[in-house]
Amino acid sequence: MDVFRVKGNGPLSGTIEVGGAKNAALPLLAACLLTKETVRLTRVPDLSDIRFMVEILRHVGAKIENPEPGTWEINAAQLSHIAPYELVRKMRASICLLGPLVARLRRAEVSIPGGCVIGPRPIDLHLKGLKKLHCDVRIEHGYVFIDAEDMRGSVVFLGGRNGSTVTGTANILMAATLAPGTTRIECAACEPEIVDLCKLLTKMGACIEGIGSPELVVQGVEELHGCEHPVIADRIEAGTFIAAAAITNGNVLVKGIAPNLLGAFLDKLEEAGVPIEPEADGLRVLPHNGKLRPVDCITLPYPGFPTDLQAQFCALMACTDGISIITERIYPNRFMHVPELQRMGADIAIEGPSAIVKGPCKFSGAPVMASDLRASAALILAAMAANDETWIQRIYHLDRGYEHFEHKLAALGAKIERLDDSEMPHELYQE
Ligand code: EPU
Repeated sequence: MDVFRVKGNGPLSGTIEVGGAKNAALPLLAACLLTKETVRLTRVPDLSDIRFMVEILRHVGAKIENPEPGTWEINAAQLSHIAPYELVRKMRASICLLGPLVARLRRAEVSIPGGCVIGPRPIDLHLKGLKKLHCDVRIEHGYVFIDAEDMRGSVVFLGGRNGSTVTGTANILMAATLAPGTTRIECAACEPEIVDLCKLLTKMGACIEGIGSPELVVQGVEELHGCEHPVIADRIEAGTFIAAAAITNGNVLVKGIAPNLLGAFLDKLEEAGVPIEPEADGLRVLPHNGKLRPVDCITLPYPGFPTDLQAQFCALMACTDGISIITERIYPNRFMHVPELQRMGADIAIEGPSAIVKGPCKFSGAPVMASDLRASAALILAAMAANDETWIQRIYHLDRGYEHFEHKLAALGAKIERLDDSEMPHELYQE
């Protein structure tokens, strides 16, 4: 298995170009099943999660071409309704198949994704929504069986105890595009990735009003057609590079991201004293020269502070002088990065859904273990701020969601190498 060796190497500097968003591309790929015609997606990031999704789409019958890097052409003229556990268990986002399969075939048999390290990831809201659309939903032997013969529009409320659901909104939206009548989705997720899905669906011929708002109104149509669509920029990748620039006191232009996609995150960085200036095609992070302030934050659905940037922000706050309280309202147990950051010298205590971060710490290199996608990024950030060497194991988590991460960081001056774990000093290696 691959590992990273990272050596703190001072401030990052240069320009990076943000790629297409994983969390947009996954539901967009699923949406291609809604038509018999070919859909061409561009700016699809090169990630292991994308390759899993392509594998699942092929399994249900889609013909898929990858004519050039970042471009995928999907034709689902033939489609079957079964997504088995062997494939679905590899990636939770495969639950996004439910909506398109019931819309096209009026039935689906999709395995329920297994456990997840960031905490419980129920699908009750997805199923509630489908029931509201008059689908018959049953769970047996670890699978959801849906009979959607009688599917038709309705009012669907998608709010749960932690707000709306992103992939749940995607599923109900996709199902509604081909359901007779009007569907009103209340408390819909407003994440930019849902806006991007609405844009693709509209190009395919769907009738959707209220795009970007918590109330989406969909008029069902008879069929959808092919089109071409570029995936929206990855706001989480952009935010991670902004945090990387800040944690190394760097000067970095993060290109290809609109500031409004990062609202609450940028607001918190500004409060912390990170100078960020908008430029024609992106955001420039300037050196703060060690004058960072601690800042409290609470993760919330968009446009609130994104949970997918919480771990990286935690690493940054660990370097500031004072106490920050970081509260998770989306996944209250999403703090697996904390014990590893502690091993690198951070002073962080977990109190319920909050991390109490006491800085400043000077990170020191250590062998650490990545536990999930965003935790991996946080460890790399901490490693770049350390002045010695850090070894990071289980970086396959990172490969799920960051495209060519080490190459992009190396181009900014980071010392980061991907090695086989056999090259890791034996005494540091953990089974
Ligand atoms: N929830 C329910 N019932 C449901 C669905 C969700 O209670 O039926 C709860 C969840 O437990 C959570 C909250 O609602 O507390 C939000 O979950 P959501 O369904 O919005 O999450 P998701 O759609 O499964 C997507 C991203 C995640 C990101 C979350 C929140 C994709 C493929 N995944 O997950 O991305 O953290 O939205 O923004 O879009 C990541 O990229 O690292 C990642 C985990």
